[in-house]
Amino acid sequence: MHIVHSIAELRTALAQRGRPAFVPTMGNLHAGHLSLVQLARQHGDVTVASIFVNRLQFLPHEDFDSYPRTWGADCSQLQAAGCDILFAPREADLYPEAQTFKLHPDPALADMLEGHFRPGFFTGVCTVVLKLFSAVFATTGGGVAVFGKKDYQQLMVIERMVQQFALPITIIAGETARVAGGLALSSRNGYLSAMELEQAMALSQALRQLAHAARSGSMPLADLETQALDQLRALGWAPDYLTVRQRCDLQIPSAAALQQAPLVALGAARLGNTRLIDNLEF
Ligand code: PAF
Repeated sequence: MHIVHSIAELRTALAQRGRPAFVPTMGNLHAGHLSLVQLARQHGDVTVASIFVNRLQFLPHEDFDSYPRTWGADCSQLQAAGCDILFAPREADLYPEAQTFKLHPDPALADMLEGHFRPGFFTGVCTVVLKLFSAVFATTGGGVAVFGKKDYQQLMVIERMVQQFALPITIIAGETARVAGGLALSSRNGYLSAMELEQAMALSQALRQLAHAARSGSMPLADLETQALDQLRALGWAPDYLTVRQRCDLQIPSAAALQQAPLVALGAARLGNTRLIDNLEF
């Protein structure tokens, strides 16, 4: 695996290599990331992963400084997964000066759910992803980028960005990897104590129950969501949201849509000091 740090080095490494399939990450890799690398390998001539903890997408009180940085283990795992090029820019490579131009995504999609509880998050994500896309794809005439469904709203925001800017990039969605009890793999699971890890299964279970109840139409959706929030609180969580949305635009489904439209249950909740997110398509 070829490791590069600057955009110029990356473009040199990509010359004559064909269409890249790109997996952007913030490192601290787990099996979920590696499954995205496997997916990327099926869709491009050269597989590129990036590791960059992007300060623009963290709020001042969030975990930018303590975000786990596991360089050695990440490199070994990417190498074993068959990644060809690792792009690991230093802060000065991506942000050589203050990033005063930022990409503000459509508020109709980005100001709800994660964007409501983490204001500015999607501006930070879109700004860095556009810059990473420029680094990887500007000299290759486009390619493929792989994002996980675990960050469902992020995936939708990026898909919309690519579509609206007519970027020559195909976005491929990777399924969420889970442990046996249902907990979605996440870099932030590493913050959980052994006891919290057991308790953390409750988030995916709550989403499954909510999805089932929403489709059965046993109660108005808003009441089901309130009930789901109360049940999670009773288990010691501090939930931000547990909700059912239309998959096409993340808007609240009508009664008719609830019966048959493609939907997704999304949740974010804090267990102790750790904020976890998850979702379930149904
Ligand atoms: O999902 C992530 O790890 C990050 O939001 C991303 C897409 C790498 C941008 O920093």
